[in-house]
Amino acid sequence: MLSRNAKAAFYALAGPFMKLNGFRYRWLRAPRDGLLRIHLGPGQKNYIDGWFNVDANAFTGKCDLWADLRNPLPFHSDTADAIYSHHVIEHLPDIPAHLREVFRCLKPGGVYRVAGPNGDSAIAKFTQKDSAWFTDFPERRISIGGRFENFIFCRREHLTILTHSYLDELLTNAGFDDLRLCQPLVQTHHPILFKECLSKESESDPAYPHTLVIEAVKPA
Ligand SMILES: C[S@@+](CC[C@H](N)C(=O)[O-])C[C@H]1O[C@@H](n2cnc3c(N)ncnc32)[C@H](O)[C@@H]1O
Repeated sequence: MLSRNAKAAFYALAGPFMKLNGFRYRWLRAPRDGLLRIHLGPGQKNYIDGWFNVDANAFTGKCDLWADLRNPLPFHSDTADAIYSHHVIEHLPDIPAHLREVFRCLKPGGVYRVAGPNGDSAIAKFTQKDSAWFTDFPERRISIGGRFENFIFCRREHLTILTHSYLDELLTNAGFDDLRLCQPLVQTHHPILFKECLSKESESDPAYPHTLVIEAVKPA
């Protein structure tokens, strides 16, 4: 994991190139019709075949487009059938603006599956003093408070705390409808669209999932 300073330097240096790359893609190559499923932030291991994968990390991971998700998304309006994002939005400084972009790019009736660290579970497990639910990532921590802090802020990589009610509020404000909570790894309400995504997820505690997953629809 890059240090916070190294990441800031990377985004400062590479930001203008990523912006140009996204802009060029959107106006020269982005599809205007056909099936389009977009995976935002696949990271090092989660590239999905058959999806269009977008990430700022094109160096240690694989993606189809090198672009910065803090910018407007490099797709035409009303063109995506599905958009998938797993443990990404908590890294972004302006989630409402990002969700408005996701909404813009989806076709009417298109679906967004969004996932991130589950603040509700973390708060419950902290209150229950269940230290084992938390991990030593990214810092080795012994106290439950330190492990809780690991989970919530992840060495200051995470800029917010995602709870079910807050994510619902953000999605509703962006215009989404038909919001449905899903169990990570095993559940989707749109299997034709998201079946390949499930195998990229992981979960060791179905009762208190580490990941909060919601599917939301752009009204037709
Ligand atoms: C914690 S990783 C999650 C990777 C993968 N989705 C998973 O669940 O394992 C976050 C991913 O989001 C990407 N990311 C974070 N901020 C980004 C940004 N501003 N633009 C593009 N990608 C970004 C990172 O490069 C990284 O691949």
